[in-house]
Amino acid sequence: MTRTQLSLGLDPAPPPREPRELSPGAVLLPGFALPAGAVLRAIHAVLAEAPLRHLIVPRGLEMSVAMSNCGALGWFSDVRGYRYTPTDPASGRPWPAMPDVFLDLAVRAAAAAGYPDFQPKACLVNRYDPGARMGLHQDRDESDLSAPIVSVSLGLPATFLWGGPARTDRPTRIPVVHGDVVVFGGPGRLRFHGVAPVKEGDHPEVGPHRFNLTFRKVT
Ligand code: SIN
Ligand code: FE2
Repeated sequence: MTRTQLSLGLDPAPPPREPRELSPGAVLLPGFALPAGAVLRAIHAVLAEAPLRHLIVPRGLEMSVAMSNCGALGWFSDVRGYRYTPTDPASGRPWPAMPDVFLDLAVRAAAAAGYPDFQPKACLVNRYDPGARMGLHQDRDESDLSAPIVSVSLGLPATFLWGGPARTDRPTRIPVVHGDVVVFGGPGRLRFHGVAPVKEGDHPEVGPHRFNLTFRKVT
């Protein structure tokens, strides 16, 4: 068989996905969390200690995304508002410790995006089942806004909505797949963002779900 015949039988390799600036201070790092096996095992260990639940937002509606946390602080919402708590309100126990593989990934991703010395204290674990979405919002429950947010996508693909400084700014639609990491800080720290409804699917490592981890310094 000639070289030409051989190459005709092969699928062309997809072009490498390069880091991409979404706006000043915000970077998409394609595949940065791969391979993700150890991180996925650690997610399941965290969720065995602090199960996922659908939180209620202050207006009284239940979120379509199921949430839990690990680290010294966890993000929580109920009719009284949004806040960080040192314990899981469902059990009264401290949130599970942040696994070393989480911390290592978050610190390396922040550094790769230009934020050395990131010291996350909280990790919000979000699970999106098909149809789940997150409306446009700012991450502004943290008192230290000088630190970036590191956001890790695993499992089913999704469309990350990257908005502007105002809620009415039309968001850019950013495809995010298993292993992608978005870091936003500096002038991008308070941009509105969200996630379009996740489409049906079955990911080989994760099943019919999308997980998202967001790391925050908080205080
Ligand atoms: C978030 O903004 O907390 C989640 C973003 C995502 O799921 O990609
Ligand atoms: Fe957010």
